[in-house]
Amino acid sequence: MKILGIETSCDDTAAAVIENGSKVLSNLVASQTDMHERYGGIIPEIASREHLNSIIPIINKAIDDAGISHKDLDAIAVTNGPGLSGSLLIGVNVAKSLGFAWNKKVFGVNHLEGHIYSAWLENLFKDSKLDFPLACLIASGGHTDLIIMNGHLDYNVIARTRDDAAGEAFDKVARVLGLGFPGGPEIQKAATVNKTSIPPFPRPEIKDSMDFSFSGLKTAVVRRAELDGFYPEGKTYPTPKQVREYAFEFQDAVVDCLIDRTIKSTNLYKCNGIILGGGVAANSHLRSKMSEKSPVPVVIPKISFCTDNGAMIGAAAYFRSKEIATSNWDMDAIPNLPLI
Ligand code: KG4
Ligand code: ZN
Repeated sequence: MKILGIETSCDDTAAAVIENGSKVLSNLVASQTDMHERYGGIIPEIASREHLNSIIPIINKAIDDAGISHKDLDAIAVTNGPGLSGSLLIGVNVAKSLGFAWNKKVFGVNHLEGHIYSAWLENLFKDSKLDFPLACLIASGGHTDLIIMNGHLDYNVIARTRDDAAGEAFDKVARVLGLGFPGGPEIQKAATVNKTSIPPFPRPEIKDSMDFSFSGLKTAVVRRAELDGFYPEGKTYPTPKQVREYAFEFQDAVVDCLIDRTIKSTNLYKCNGIILGGGVAANSHLRSKMSEKSPVPVVIPKISFCTDNGAMIGAAAYFRSKEIATSNWDMDAIPNLPLI
């Protein structure tokens, strides 16, 4: 079964053709980073305009690169939430229009479900020989969720962030340090030390809860930057050593929070394995430290499948498609679509 997966929930226009929920026949992403970089964050209006420019060429190329014609597609799947409403609307309406014109089944996929199913791409999960239940940590620019997966499409969301998402905290702290956007890769690049001369940043916990909280950690970075005299920007700048040390200590604190809650949940729910997903799962420190500390195997998609992509939507759609008999023409963009 060949599915065209379309993803436009945020600032990347992505399309892919996936066979039987795993084989990646093509996977393309048109990044808008250059457009948003100058503003230090995503401007929703610009994002939807850029999606409009890129979406048809990207879809055509994804079908060409897969070596097929649109006639060979069995279905079209598109992210219909959560995300930016103007961005989601472009993907949803293009998917429905193409489905109508090409006479294909069309349906919506939850973006978080897509991040979870990125672990099924290229047989990664099958080769791990693991079975349910699994603990899934999905950490991105908009979400930090811990989900227990008891079977396919069977989720129990046990924790989420109470304030900032982990990726959002990376992006904000990168700005404090005068680094570029998106902040996650920039902080990872700057964190080239493995020991620092500054005290560690706090690892916030919420009493009697597995939930995450990153805004206090972000404020701790800001307060120390004020004391060190380089924030607010403009007065003085951090030295290269300060950037390296702040980046390392901040990254280590976020990674520790993510690992702590994930491993506690794994033990509590007797999970056989851990799945990582979302843009923050591209972080090399998180990838290696989680594998090192976890009592169970950790399944980590390759980096291009952690950040937003159409392949993960095609993979999730394959498992969803069995329960969706006909096209869902009423499907709409739902900016706060819950996973369950
Ligand atoms: O999943 P994603 O591509 O889009 C959303 O659904 O939000 O995640 C984007 C987020 C951004 O906040 C970005 O800074 C973060 O993922 N990110 C990283 C890394 N690569 C991307 N955070 C830490 N380390 C990275 N290497
Ligand atoms: Zn995402």
